[in-house]
Amino acid sequence: MAGNGPTVGFIGAGRVGTTLAVTLAASGYAVTAVASRTLASARRLAAAVDGCTAYADSDRVAEVCDLVFVTTPDDEIAPVAAAVAWRAGQMVVHCSGSLSAAVLEPARERGALVGGLHPLQTFADAEQAVLALPGSAFGVEAEDPRLAAVLHQMVSALRGTGIPLRAEDKALYHASAVIACNYLVTLFHLATGLWAAFGVERDVAGRALLPLVKGTMSNLDNLGLPASLTGPIARGDVGTVQKHLEALAAAAPQLLPTYKELGRLTVPIGLEKGTLSPPAAEQLRRLLGDTEGEPCE
Ligand SMILES: NC(=O)c1ccc[n+]([C@@H]2O[C@H](COP(=O)([O-])OP(=O)(O)OC[C@H]3O[C@@H](n4cnc5c(N)ncnc54)[C@H](OP(=O)(O)O)[C@@H]3O)[C@@H](O)[C@H]2O)c1
Repeated sequence: MAGNGPTVGFIGAGRVGTTLAVTLAASGYAVTAVASRTLASARRLAAAVDGCTAYADSDRVAEVCDLVFVTTPDDEIAPVAAAVAWRAGQMVVHCSGSLSAAVLEPARERGALVGGLHPLQTFADAEQAVLALPGSAFGVEAEDPRLAAVLHQMVSALRGTGIPLRAEDKALYHASAVIACNYLVTLFHLATGLWAAFGVERDVAGRALLPLVKGTMSNLDNLGLPASLTGPIARGDVGTVQKHLEALAAAAPQLLPTYKELGRLTVPIGLEKGTLSPPAAEQLRRLLGDTEGEPCE
């Protein structure tokens, strides 16, 4: 992408705004203006991008840019959309995965083209995210075909994959992202916490378990589903699962419902993989508290 693309600005100089600004600039886009709640954050972003000016007033960003990303926290998107003096014909885009473009209605009423560009990536830290963003998938919500074309071209420039989304699909799409990303962290927290029962601290447990998690990610990348499933349920190893239940009941009974629920959800993957036999699946289902396909804790 290059010089003939839209000039791009940001309102909200946090992790996502900074990462997108830096990566779009590196991909040839003219990222020319930024404003934020505090001028200090806007200046920090501007310092990371050649030719970008930090403004104290968000209206100045709308005045000078063809495409403005509203990269504030979700709850601030509507107030920003209502407060800024948008221009007819300009593009206004937020990056929330769960909100639809309807939250930008005040900009649309002023004649702007509104949409959403959600990077399907985690931004715990802007420096790491700059490395991870290129090649990511992006949820693209844009009713207007002109805006859709601009956003898909942007995704291509970032070597990403654009996933067209309708407004009504976004909550489910975002729930999927939360399961894959946030709840993976939750599972890691649960797994590392168990090691305290045999005297090993969480950070040591984390360092020991992380290569296993990375190996699993690599399997998912290379082999996909259901081939990546290994372990006792994939093998139909009922005795091992029985031992897990006993150990958990003694050391961490609060985890039993979660362990059983995840086990029940794992049985169909083992069956699909073909390594779990239907009789062993039935035994596992009973052991895990599912007699007729229904949970019965
Ligand atoms: N974090 C993720 O992993 C992730 C992933 C995908 C999408 N998103 C989406 O990306 C968007 C931004 O998230 P984030 O993680 O980058 O948030 P963040 O790091 O908390 O940054 C938000 C920025 O918005 C600024 N801000 C707050 N209220 C403002 C206002 N009224 N006007 C102007 N600027 C304001 C803050 O300014 P100051 O620094 O000046 O106080 C802050 O720099 C959200 O819609 C979020 O759902 C996040």
